[in-house]
Amino acid sequence: MSEQYILVTGGAGYIGSHTVIELIQNGYKVVIVDNLINSSFDAVSRIEFIVGEKVPFFNVDLKDEKSLTKVFETYSIKSVIHFAALKAVGESTKIPLDYYDNNVNGTITLLKVMNNVNVKTIVFSSSATVYGDATRFENMIPIPEHCPNDPTNPYGKTKYVIEQIIHDLYNSDPEWRAAILRYFNPIGAHPSGLIGEDPLGIPNNLLPYLAQVAIGRREKLSIFGNDYNSHDGTPIRDYIHVVDLAKGHIASLSYLNNLESNKGLFREWNLGTGKGSTVFDVYHAFSKAVGRDLPYEVVGRRAGDVLDLTANPTRANTELEWFAEKSIEDACKDLWRWTTKNPFGFQLDNYKWTIFGEIEGNRLHTVDLDGFKVSITNYGATIQNIELNGDKLVLGFDNLESYQSSSNPFFGATVGRYANRIGNGGFTIDGKSFKTEINESENKTLHGGSQGFDKKQWLGPIVLKEDDNSVSLSFKYIDPNGSNGFPSDLETIVKYIVSPKNTLTIDFESQIVGNNGDVTALNLTNHSYFTLGDDVIDEYQVELSTPKYLALDSNQLPTGETKKLDSTSFKFGSQQFDDDFIINEANELLDTRSQDLKTLVNISSSSHSIKVSSTEPAFQLYTGDGIFVGEFKSRAGFAVEPSRPVNAINSSNAKQVILRKGETYGSKIQYEFA
Ligand code: NAD
Ligand code: WQD
Repeated sequence: MSEQYILVTGGAGYIGSHTVIELIQNGYKVVIVDNLINSSFDAVSRIEFIVGEKVPFFNVDLKDEKSLTKVFETYSIKSVIHFAALKAVGESTKIPLDYYDNNVNGTITLLKVMNNVNVKTIVFSSSATVYGDATRFENMIPIPEHCPNDPTNPYGKTKYVIEQIIHDLYNSDPEWRAAILRYFNPIGAHPSGLIGEDPLGIPNNLLPYLAQVAIGRREKLSIFGNDYNSHDGTPIRDYIHVVDLAKGHIASLSYLNNLESNKGLFREWNLGTGKGSTVFDVYHAFSKAVGRDLPYEVVGRRAGDVLDLTANPTRANTELEWFAEKSIEDACKDLWRWTTKNPFGFQLDNYKWTIFGEIEGNRLHTVDLDGFKVSITNYGATIQNIELNGDKLVLGFDNLESYQSSSNPFFGATVGRYANRIGNGGFTIDGKSFKTEINESENKTLHGGSQGFDKKQWLGPIVLKEDDNSVSLSFKYIDPNGSNGFPSDLETIVKYIVSPKNTLTIDFESQIVGNNGDVTALNLTNHSYFTLGDDVIDEYQVELSTPKYLALDSNQLPTGETKKLDSTSFKFGSQQFDDDFIINEANELLDTRSQDLKTLVNISSSSHSIKVSSTEPAFQLYTGDGIFVGEFKSRAGFAVEPSRPVNAINSSNAKQVILRKGETYGSKIQYEFA
């Protein structure tokens, strides 16, 4: 039987994105449906980065029955977790029809489609708001599931109505299994700092508002009344960490899945901590996480607020064996980490992306810092363009097909697993021999083989603004054991840092993951071809920081001897280089990032220049004589590829290219343009 998926509606949203991560980390396969009306695709690419795999995503409105049906036809879906809804209480009082239409009609369409395809298990995002003001009764705080419902606003009424609809459906067909989860006040963010709540406009909720005060986007918090009957006069809520909430979905899903066959169920569960906290309690906890008292003012009560909404979570604790484990302090720390890393949520000035080519989800990401523009695509984590004040400084294609072609001379590529050449058709580590794919004459593997890192779609990127106003883009790829003959599952992160000083820095990091091997050969670099404005490179002035390079045999493999250039300062003229220059012969480091960046070469034309620095012990200089592709001619650009020496894996100094499980491989390259 084909693999079974959980469909998550609203999976790009705040609670949905955290739940998708928990699901995948618990072994579930997930498909996301979200029309992005209140979220961003970046949340999905960050989910993928965190979990290390692609997650099928459909930009579909739940009310679109035809498109939704197609999702169920494309994937074998076992159950649905249904988050998709509009959720702003205040807005719902102004545009109630939109709320009923989106939430109620969207759910009816979903249930109809599920019924048609015989998928009858649903976990529904309800809300404590269905209880209304539970203080209208005596002894209903903490609130149990049997507390009578009385929602006080259109949003809450949509939740109430949907619960009834699902109940009626169950009554009509007891094969249905429905978990109605009534959330209390979800707060916090993913501990990675990469996923969190990203409210559009002015936040309605307490912690998102306070976070914007702390980061300087809002002046001060307005506290809505301090004349309630609580220990400090402010209202009491049950704040629950969003990761705990996400775990509640896994617990309820497995409860439904473990019911006796042919047994249906309709059941409500409160998801809360059972502990009430006041507005001031939360204010103090968040101020502590930030490290200073945040500005606030006590103002009048907000219409519709009630004194106390604290859950009685006993039913979920006992039946689902689920407990909220994290504290408000944990949530505040995680929220602050998310906020400082992402002060404007998923939005970032100076960054945009477009679709690039026909591979699902492949994108081109562009950072533009006042005329210094860098574009990188997921395919190969490839540098597609670098521009300074409108002049292109790197060779690149405007279409994905050219990158996929075998005639692509590694334009802008992240090459791997093994940059440059491996001789002898492979290598031996600890007495064990590995045959790598031969993609060059005389038994050589060039740049990791024909299906190397440059031909893979990388996950991410995570795009972040760094402290010095640089923008970083991190891509991840997990290369499986056996890929092009290389052993072990290998996780690699390539981080590009575009700085306003017209530098592009690349940070490489790899580790062995999984249990399919514990060693590999590794050598990483970027293979950009630079151009400094001329059609060919011949007039470019070169200043090398070393004259020393490896003597090569007729096979382009090192003889063990080194040679020296007469001069390190020259014009390319008609000279051809495809040579490995040596910066540090004694290098044995596997992670060179502890070293200072060292200048390797300065190359200039009459209009531009590039300085290449790195922490690496060697670099290949290639004059691009073999470029014959599309509009690009021989010597249209030159490549400088900082890395470990050619064929080091078959030399006496192989330590620097052997990565073992538990170790980290790393290196750094910097290009500085003028
Ligand atoms: P959110 O807005 O971040 O996520 C909801 C997602 O659903 C968004 O990504 C949005 O784009 C998507 N969506 C909305 N309408 C859609 C449609 N017609 N088709 C496809 N996608 C659609 O909100 P959230 O805080 O993550 O809330 C998730 C669910 O939990 C909602 O049902 C909400 O009512 C419920 N809930 C939230 C809270 C809370 O305080 N955040 C509390 C209780 C219940
Ligand atoms: C919390 C406390 C405010 C903002 C809402 C929905 C509910 C559910 C969760 C979806 C209250 C006080 C707030 C501010 C403040 N959502 N506050 N200043 O109202 O408990 O619940 O979100 O289902 O349905 O109603 O959450 O975060 O808005 O407020 O003083 O700027 O913080 O008065 O006491 P609420 P909240």
